[in-house]
Amino acid sequence: MKNDDLFRLDGKTALVTGGAKGIGAAIARMFANRGARVFILDRDREAGEQTAAAIASTNRQAAFCFCDQADPESVETAIEQIVGEADKLDILVNNAAIAHIGTAETTSAEDMDRLLRVNVGGVHNMLRAVLPHMKKRGGVILNLASIASGLGLPERFAYSSTKGAIATMTLSVARDYLPYGIRCNSLSPARVHTPFVDGYLAENYPGREEEMYKKLSATQPIGRMGRPEEIAAFALYLCSDEAAFLTGCDYPIDGGFKNLNT
Ligand SMILES: NC(=O)c1ccc[n+]([C@@H]2O[C@H](COP(=O)([O-])OP(=O)(O)OC[C@H]3O[C@@H](n4cnc5c(N)ncnc54)[C@H](O)[C@@H]3O)[C@@H](O)[C@H]2O)c1
Repeated sequence: MKNDDLFRLDGKTALVTGGAKGIGAAIARMFANRGARVFILDRDREAGEQTAAAIASTNRQAAFCFCDQADPESVETAIEQIVGEADKLDILVNNAAIAHIGTAETTSAEDMDRLLRVNVGGVHNMLRAVLPHMKKRGGVILNLASIASGLGLPERFAYSSTKGAIATMTLSVARDYLPYGIRCNSLSPARVHTPFVDGYLAENYPGREEEMYKKLSATQPIGRMGRPEEIAAFALYLCSDEAAFLTGCDYPIDGGFKNLNT
C-alpha cells in the first residue's frame, strides 16, 4: 500500500458539528482533503457558509447546513436534509461546544443549564438523529472531550462537568453500538489556538492579551498551544479505516499537559 492510500475517506459522508470555525473547521478541511463529502453543521450561518465555500473552491466536497444542536427540532431538520442529499452517514464528529468560566459557587443555575443543554444535550440530540441511519451500514463517531474531562482545571465547573459527560457518553455509545459496526472514541485536547481562545482573552484580559497568551501557552510543557490542524490529523486517523481496531477510548492530545506537569 502506498502512503497516499492511507487515511483516505473517499466515498464517505462526514458530518462535523461546529465546523464553521476553529477545530471543527480544520477537521472539515482535513476530511474533505482526504476525499470525504463533508457537511458542516453549525449555528453560525455566515462563518459556516464561508468555510464550506472555501473548501468547495478547492474542488473538494463540502456543504453548510444550519443546525443549533441544543434544539432537537433543528437537529432533526438538518439530518433529514442531509439524508435527502447523501444516501448514507459514515462519520459523525461531535465537535460543537461552548465554554464557561466559574466555580461551583459563581456558576449560576442558568449558565449550568445552558452548558448542559448545548454540550451534553446537543451531542445527545445529534446521536439520536444520526444513529438510526448509521446503524444500517456501520460508521464512526468521534466526540471532542477535553483535558478538563479527567483533571481539575481552575474555574471550569460547568465546562468540566459537560466534558466529563462526553468522555463517559463515548463509552456508553461504544458499548451499545458495537454490534452495529459503529466505533466511538473521544479526543481530549489541551489548549488549542482557536477563535474561542482569542475571544476568551479579549473578554477577560483586555490590553493584556499577548501576556496572557504566552502564559496559557506555557501551561503546556511542550511550550505552546496546539494547532487545530494537529487535532484534525488525529481525528482523521481515528475516523479512518486504519483505526478499525479502536473503539471506546479517549485520547489525550495535549503537549504533555496531563502527564508532564509536575
Ligand atoms: N480550543 C481549545 O483549547 C479546546 C481544548 C479542549 C477541547 N476543546 C473542544 O474542542 C471543540 C471545538 O473547540 P473550538 O476551540 O474549536 O471552539 P470554537 O468556539 O472556536 O468553535 C466552536 C463552533 O461550535 C459552534 N457552536 C457552538 N454552539 C453550537 C450549537 N448550539 N449548535 C451548533 N454549533 C454550535 C460555534 O458556532 C463554532 O463554530 C469543543 O468541543 C471544545 O470544548 C477545545
